[in-house]
Amino acid sequence: MAFSPLLFKVRQEREEDHPAVYQVIKRAFEEAEHADGNEQELVEALRSSNAFLPQLSLVAECAGEIIGYILFTKVKINTAVELALAPLAVLPMYQRKGVGKALMEKGHCIARKLGFHCCIVLGSEKYYPKAGYLPAGKFGISAPFEVPDQNFMVLKLCEDAVLPSGTVLYAEEFGL
Ligand SMILES: CC(C)(COP(=O)(O)OP(=O)(O)OC[C@H]1O[C@@H](n2cnc3c(N)ncnc32)[C@H](O)[C@@H]1OP(=O)(O)O)[C@@H](O)C(=O)NCCC(=O)NCCS
Repeated sequence: MAFSPLLFKVRQEREEDHPAVYQVIKRAFEEAEHADGNEQELVEALRSSNAFLPQLSLVAECAGEIIGYILFTKVKINTAVELALAPLAVLPMYQRKGVGKALMEKGHCIARKLGFHCCIVLGSEKYYPKAGYLPAGKFGISAPFEVPDQNFMVLKLCEDAVLPSGTVLYAEEFGL
């Protein structure tokens, strides 16, 4: 039987998407290897934070249903304002079909156009390197918490970007 690719689009989140986004995050993290259990509440709090950029709050939509979500918020590294990716969530039945990758690619493209140089992520060393993330320690960027080097990563948004170094300061909503 022929394999048919999943048809979906990635677009900026709208206010009416909030309840569906809440459920997508909750359901994705219920089955995740590592989860705080409050990722959906974190997003609700971040939407009213100074670190929030509506252009970087994106959903994946398939036949009118929200199936994935990604958020990038502003962080400080030394005096520079850059980005952190958190969270990224795809509904379990739609995972491993390229949705997470498409959400990241679109987000990185928008971030580049907005003039950011890099994006930080805390996560799986098996997943994020596929999108180009490298251990942040290699660039002198450190986490404000204890974490294995391989799980705290950074993506250079442009080849020639000069990255800031220092400890990442997250929005206070992260509670770090
Ligand atoms: C992690 C998550 C966002 C991945 O989304 P996804 O849509 O399933 O990922 P994609 O289909 O775009 O996968 C892209 C690539 O990563 C691989 N991949 C997907 N999930 C992976 C995982 N958990 N571990 C390792 N590799 C993974 C895919 O095989 C694919 O590889 P390829 O490009 O070589 O073919 C999704 O599984 C999820 O929502 N998990 C629960 C929440 C979570 O853990 N979020 C991340 C917090 S760090």
